[in-house]
Amino acid sequence: MCGIVGYIGNQNAAPILIEGLSRLEYRGYDSAGIAVLGSRGPQVFRRVGRVRDLDASLPRRLAGKVGIGHTRWATHGPATEENAHPQTSEDGRISVVHNGIIDNAATLRERLDAKGVKFSSETDTEVIAHLIARSEAPTLEGAVLDVLSRITGTYAIAVLDERHPDRLVVARNGSPLILGVGDHEMFVASDLSALVRHTTSVVHLDDGELATVTATEFRTFSKDEENTAKIPTTIDIDFEDVGLAGYRHYMRKEILEQPTTIERMLRGRLDERFGTARLDGLNLGPRELRWFRRVKILGCGSAYYVGQMGAAMIEELARVPADAEPASEFRYRNPIVEPDTLYVAVSQSGETADTAFAVQEVKRKGGQIVGLVNVVGSTIARECDGGVYLHAGPEVAVASTKALTHMGIGFALLALCLARVRDLSIADGQRIITGLRSIPGQIEEILTGEPGIAKIAAGLAGAQSLFFVGRVRGFPVAREGAQKLKEVSYLHAEAYQTSELKHGPLALICESLPTVAIVPDDELTDRNLAALQQIVARKGPLVVVTHPGVAIGDPAVPAITVPKNERELDPILLTVPLQLLAYHAALALGHDIDKPRNLAKSVTVE
Ligand code: AGP
Repeated sequence: MCGIVGYIGNQNAAPILIEGLSRLEYRGYDSAGIAVLGSRGPQVFRRVGRVRDLDASLPRRLAGKVGIGHTRWATHGPATEENAHPQTSEDGRISVVHNGIIDNAATLRERLDAKGVKFSSETDTEVIAHLIARSEAPTLEGAVLDVLSRITGTYAIAVLDERHPDRLVVARNGSPLILGVGDHEMFVASDLSALVRHTTSVVHLDDGELATVTATEFRTFSKDEENTAKIPTTIDIDFEDVGLAGYRHYMRKEILEQPTTIERMLRGRLDERFGTARLDGLNLGPRELRWFRRVKILGCGSAYYVGQMGAAMIEELARVPADAEPASEFRYRNPIVEPDTLYVAVSQSGETADTAFAVQEVKRKGGQIVGLVNVVGSTIARECDGGVYLHAGPEVAVASTKALTHMGIGFALLALCLARVRDLSIADGQRIITGLRSIPGQIEEILTGEPGIAKIAAGLAGAQSLFFVGRVRGFPVAREGAQKLKEVSYLHAEAYQTSELKHGPLALICESLPTVAIVPDDELTDRNLAALQQIVARKGPLVVVTHPGVAIGDPAVPAITVPKNERELDPILLTVPLQLLAYHAALALGHDIDKPRNLAKSVTVE
C-alpha cells in the first residue's frame, strides 16, 4: 500500500526521502516520487517501478532542505509517471502526497474542470493540490483546512507549498501518519520503519488531526483549529531490527527469529505461582474478566485464521463460547454488539483498515474491545480499550510469520486469564505455562528440520493445486498453511476440514493433487488417519505434519514431525513448518518472496 515520507531540517532532503521510501518498499507499491523545495523552487520527480529507479533518475545536485515523498499503490488510474505522487497544482506551487481514497473526487474534479483547471493525472489526489492552490485562506494551514472540509474519504496527506518553505502541513483521517522529532529536523512518515534510522521520538497523529511541522517544532491541531497538545513518545525499535542482517529474505529471517522473539514476548507475563498470565494492558480486573459470557475475535486474512485458533483455546481453557470472524465483513452485517461479549481485534500492523473499522463499529455500539497488536502506537492499538502488545519486533515480509505465532501465544495468555477467573485449576494453568515456556525451544527443534522441509517443498512446487486439511484444532492450521503457500508461491491451495473431504472435495483428489494433512497426536488422530486413507486410495500424494509416535502407516508418505506440546498449544507449533514449506516452495519457483505480487503488507484501504 502507499507510503509517505517527509523531511524538513538542515540536511539535504532528497537522500533522506529516498532512504525513507526504500524502507517503505515492503508495503508494496508500483511507482514512487519526491518533491524537494530549494532555491530553484519546487522540483518534482516521479518514476514507475522501484525506488532505486527513481533515485537513479535524480539530478546529482538536488539541493533543498524540505521535501515530501511517496510510494504509490495504484487505485485511481494505472501505475504511470503522471499518476505517481507528489501531485501538483497547475502552477507547481503546491505538491501533495496522499495515502487513502477521496470518495467525492469525481464530483470535485468535475467542478474544477468546469472552472478550467487542467488535470494532468487520473488521481483523486490531484484534486487536493488544485483545491489548496485555489483556496483564498491566508495561511497554508487555512488552505488545507479549507480543502479538508470539502473532501470525504480516507487520507493521510503531506503538503509542500513554495510560498511557505519553512513548513510542511500534514493531516490524517483513517490512514496512519507519524511525526518524527529530531535535533533541528523533523520527519513525517506513514510507517515507523521510515523513521527509526533517524529518531525514536515520535508523535502519532489521530484521525481528524493536522500538524504544522517546521525544522525545530511541530504543532498539532484539530479541524476546528483547536491545539491538540501532543507529547512525543519514545519507541522501542532498534534500527538493526528493520534490516536484513545478512539474510536473503525477510520472510526467512522472521521465521528464524521466532524462538528469540517469543522468549522476549513471554518475559514477565507468566505467573507460575497462580498458573495465570499477567496482562496489565488489558485494563480488565478479575471481576470484569469473569463477567464476559462470550468472546468475539475480529481480524483479517492470517490474523483471522489465528483468531480461530485463539477462539478454540478460549473455549477449551476458559469454557467461554468464542468465535472468530473476518473483520472485513463484520460492520456490513449490522452486527449485534452485546455488552457481555469481549471483542478482540487482532492485527500485526495495527493499521488494517477493515479491522480498524470493525473496532470502531464495536465501540460505536458500546461494546468493549481489546487488541492483540504488534505495532506499538498503531491505530488499532490506540483505538482499543486495552490490549496485549505482541512484541514480535518489526515484521517486514508481506507474508506474516512470526507475528502470527505471537498472536497464537497472545491468545493463549488471554485464554489463561479468562480461564483462571473461572474453573481452570492452578495445576492446569501451570501445565499451560510450562507448555508456553517450551515453545521457543521446540521451534528451534522444528527449524533444524529446514533442509528436509525444503526438499518436500521443492517436490510440491511442481503441483498446480494443493489441499491442506485438518480437523478441529488442526483446521485453522491448515487454513493458514494454504494461505501462506498461495501468498508467496502463487500455487492454488485450498483448506478443508478433513471430515469434509468426503462431502465434495474428494472428487478432485488424483495423482496430480497433493494434500498436506495436519495430524496432531490428539483425540482425533485415528479418525484423521482413517480419513487420509480416502486420499491414499485415490492415489493422491500426501505430506503429513504430525507429532512423534503417530503411526502414519506408509513409510513412503513424507512426514514433518513437530514436537508435542499441550494439546491446546499444539496449533501454534504445527504452523511453523508450514511457514518454511511456503518459503521454500516460493524459493524453488524463483518468486519475489518478500514482495508477492498484488499484495501489500499493510492493507490501509477497504
Ligand atoms: C498474512 O500473511 C497476510 N499478508 C495477510 O493475510 C494479513 O494477515 C492480513 O492482511 C491482516 O494484516 P494485519 O495482521 O496487519 O491486520
